[in-house]
Amino acid sequence: MAIPQNIIDQVQDRTDIVEVISRYISLKKIGRNYKTTCPFHHEKTPSFIVSPDKQIYHCFGCGAGGNVFSFLMKHENIQFPEAVEMLAEKAGVALGRISARSEEASSLANELYKINDLACKFYQAHLLNNKAAREYLSSRGVGDEVIKKFRIGYAPDSWDATLNFFKSKGVSASLLEKAGLVIPNEKGSHYDRFRNRILFPIMDLKDRILGFGGRVLDSSLPKYINSPETPVYSKGRNLYGLNLTRDAIKKKGYALIVEGYLDFIIPYQAGVQNIIATLGTALTVDHVKLLKRLANTLIMVYDPDEAGEAASLRGLELLVSEDVNVYIAELPSGFDPDGYIRKFGTEEFTKLLKASKNLFEYKFAKLSQKFNANTTHGKANIAAEMLQTIAKIKNAVSRSDLIKKLAERLSVDEDSLRIELKKVKPEYAENRNVAPVIEVRKDSKSAEVMMLALSLGGAEYISKIEKQLSLEEFKDSSVRDVMSAIFDLHKDNKEITAAKLINYLGNRGEDAKLISEAVNLLDIMEDKEKALNDCVAKIKKDNMDDRRNRLQEAIRAAHKHKDEEACKKLLSEYNDLLKTSKAYTPTA
Ligand code: UTP
Ligand code: MN
Repeated sequence: MAIPQNIIDQVQDRTDIVEVISRYISLKKIGRNYKTTCPFHHEKTPSFIVSPDKQIYHCFGCGAGGNVFSFLMKHENIQFPEAVEMLAEKAGVALGRISARSEEASSLANELYKINDLACKFYQAHLLNNKAAREYLSSRGVGDEVIKKFRIGYAPDSWDATLNFFKSKGVSASLLEKAGLVIPNEKGSHYDRFRNRILFPIMDLKDRILGFGGRVLDSSLPKYINSPETPVYSKGRNLYGLNLTRDAIKKKGYALIVEGYLDFIIPYQAGVQNIIATLGTALTVDHVKLLKRLANTLIMVYDPDEAGEAASLRGLELLVSEDVNVYIAELPSGFDPDGYIRKFGTEEFTKLLKASKNLFEYKFAKLSQKFNANTTHGKANIAAEMLQTIAKIKNAVSRSDLIKKLAERLSVDEDSLRIELKKVKPEYAENRNVAPVIEVRKDSKSAEVMMLALSLGGAEYISKIEKQLSLEEFKDSSVRDVMSAIFDLHKDNKEITAAKLINYLGNRGEDAKLISEAVNLLDIMEDKEKALNDCVAKIKKDNMDDRRNRLQEAIRAAHKHKDEEACKKLLSEYNDLLKTSKAYTPTA
């Protein structure tokens, strides 16, 4: 991340966001702006706006937004420096020397990609020459076409075939070790990690090979040996097959999630191509983020015994708090997707998907098997578990809907469920960063975002805001970070545009969203002076309220401990506060 700011500014200045975005999606001119359906969520009526004046895009539907780099980062799933690089050449800006460290890191990564690619070719060649391996694949129903497409290979039954192959190419054992292809032994030499195994290369969205999964040809153990985490491979961040299925996922609007290589390959071969596989790990937030860009509905196709486990249901709640629709397709006991399709065919498999239940229904059905929904005790248990899920849903309307549904199902009173729901929330607010915190603050946050918007309206507004509010008074930490950057730039007399501000903050997704949201707010703000005064008053008042509550709390505590001195001090502070807060009570 060490591209100098002035270089980033230059690239920004010489790039047109409309031109870049229209390489990916078609834009329609409406007034000064361009409009289209959002590529980051599914919608029928366009709410994705690109502003050539501001060099910003923003979606009113899903809140996505940012500048041209943010767009590329999100669309191409790349990092900020890569996005700058991508545009630099076209913009005629020489990137010059990036810091030694990141240069080193990216050249190591490039070397590892090259090594993995060579290794893959080596293993592919061995597959062609090994009858047993080819027969194994064919016995599993894996055809030649997918073997080629997924670059499946075979690691020969040898301790040093890979090592020697690379030796002849002048690649050191230590580099191979970094790639995860060889393992050091006690004597300081190395041996091949993959021996006598079918190899499935794992690729990223740019088709670069990150690592391999290797399956035995019989029933010996371990069934799979996988690449370790390396500078280029992290299993919590990559999904098998996504490079070849992302278009199908986008097109269908939903993705099937399975658990293994063959559970991916066999359905894919049978025509079910909106599919991905996790690689021996539970779905992570990073996985979900990757998928969310393509589709907002996920169907987990899992082993019934496993998916029914409380632990994996809890894992699914992660998806709920990430705002995706989760369905669960249940296979009959003893089947995985591979086995099911091979036995019953694609049509039956598709039926099974159609019958998938959403997480709410699914969990409810599982719980009803476990507890007796006709007894008070059973109802309480079911409600308690269900409320854990419902509490994670960000959207208040959906949450309310589900409460209604749950009340009906259990024949209990809706209000009592709502009371129970409130009890669930504090625990979550503490442990995880979920909705409740945001909700409580919603009002003060929007006033704070207004301040941000006004700051983008010109230096005179920044001066006014700076005079009346200190950074600590911004309660929302992301707004505070952005305001802090604005104050800094203002101090240095730097030009502040939304697009540049995003870069200045390192092009982090949350900031970019916030800033693009603010830009649009500014556009629709009518009386800016009045907005400024109202919002300053609101922020002051919220801060006062907070302080008052904290003081009250402290007074209560001091009282309880009979600490009279502290009581006196706090009370006088409290009175002072009341006096000042009157000055800020909105008059209207
Ligand atoms: P499964 O045991 O379900 O294997 O593990 P599978 O993919 O269905 O393979 P077949 O059908 O027996 O050939 C699911 C996934 O978990 C990981 C692999 O990624 C596998 O595809 N796994 C499994 C391992 O990493 N190591 C193991 O020993 C087993
Ligand atoms: Mn299997």
